[in-house]
Amino acid sequence: MAQQDIFQRIKERMHSDLGRYAPFYGYFTFPKLEGPIGPRMIFNGKEVICWSINNYLGLANHPEVRKVDAEAAQRWGLAYPMGSRLMSGHTALHEQLEKALADFLQKEDAFLLNYGYQGMLSIIPALTDRKDVIIYDSSSHACIVDGVNISFARRFVYAHNDINQLEDRLKKAQRIVRRTKGGILVITEGVFGMHGDLGKLDEIVSLKDRYDFRLLVDDAHGFGVMGPNGRGVAEHFGVQDKVDLIFGTFAKSMAGIGAFVAGDKYVIDFLRHHTRSQIFAKSLPMAMVEGALKRLELLRERKELREQLWKIVNAIQQGLKQRGFDIGKTQSAVTPVFMKGEEVEAANMIIDLRENYRIFVSGVIYPVVEKGTVLIRIIPTAAHTLKEVEETLAAFEDVRPKLEKGYYKGALWLEKYYSLS
Ligand SMILES: Cc1ncc(COP(=O)(O)O)c(C=O)c1O
Repeated sequence: MAQQDIFQRIKERMHSDLGRYAPFYGYFTFPKLEGPIGPRMIFNGKEVICWSINNYLGLANHPEVRKVDAEAAQRWGLAYPMGSRLMSGHTALHEQLEKALADFLQKEDAFLLNYGYQGMLSIIPALTDRKDVIIYDSSSHACIVDGVNISFARRFVYAHNDINQLEDRLKKAQRIVRRTKGGILVITEGVFGMHGDLGKLDEIVSLKDRYDFRLLVDDAHGFGVMGPNGRGVAEHFGVQDKVDLIFGTFAKSMAGIGAFVAGDKYVIDFLRHHTRSQIFAKSLPMAMVEGALKRLELLRERKELREQLWKIVNAIQQGLKQRGFDIGKTQSAVTPVFMKGEEVEAANMIIDLRENYRIFVSGVIYPVVEKGTVLIRIIPTAAHTLKEVEETLAAFEDVRPKLEKGYYKGALWLEKYYSLS
């Protein structure tokens, strides 16, 4: 068979599958949100109320955070330190941040990760080998799915939050590892980022009475938000000590860059020396580390930020429910709104919301949700006001009958608004 030029194939794909995305560039994909990060930003030249940013505690533009970020960048520049942590990129401040995270999470130790995705991608294969079995939730984030794919371990997936199926998988895994002399790793999210429901950590840890396994929880959306002290979903369920490894990112409630994994000291030490995406990559710059220390301090000490977040969460979720909207099973700040409609209707409704109501939300379609369902995801933050909640609820009340009456059917409206600079 004749050899193929990879770039030629890509050129051909530009007109087929990649071509499909071209009209969306700058609007649905790669939209430019401008102005300071906050509840009101500029999109397509107009001010919008923004519900698409995981700035849960409103720290992105908090004056104390901005001050520390600026001072740290001034003091260190953005290059420092050079090299990976293991070789030459380690500092006392990196260590201090790890200690502070471990202390907050009531774990013996914590390991910093440059990005959550990259961290998780390597933690999973570092923990497991071909004798082991990984069992993970079917709605897991890409970082878990991809990390499982890199691992040599056998893997079973269980239907989302189906604890009976998890137990069934545990039984099968137990039979395998008895033969291979391996172990079992269960992985779930704390808050599921699309639907806002919680991983059933209480039920999962109770399975430990009958099965031997270790539990790794990705609490990207729970850290800083859930639990009386913001420690996350494990704290919410009172099982902090039973979750073996807690993973979180700075990209959401901490409004920064970086991530961490926390657990027993010997395991974290092992991960320090075996997590390839960290060993073979430059360490976090000082400005990010100092900034994260400040953010963690505010997250711990300013309970009013979390209280304000929950005030906004409750207002928007109650408001939507009272108006008859289906917000699924969310128990977290992530607020999905499910409606019936086709892909093009979802897109046109989002355009209408953005352009005419000045509400910036993002939508999710098949295959994340079933065909014929539109999911609009709202991310409330402590920076939003009740007035912004009211304006948004009024907009949703307005667009729903339009959707129901078929107003959004037909061609995509994008051309009408596609004068993006
Ligand atoms: C559940 C979950 N895990 C991991 C990540 C990755 O985090 P980061 O942005 O730090 O790479 C995200 C962020 O999108 C997430 O939602």
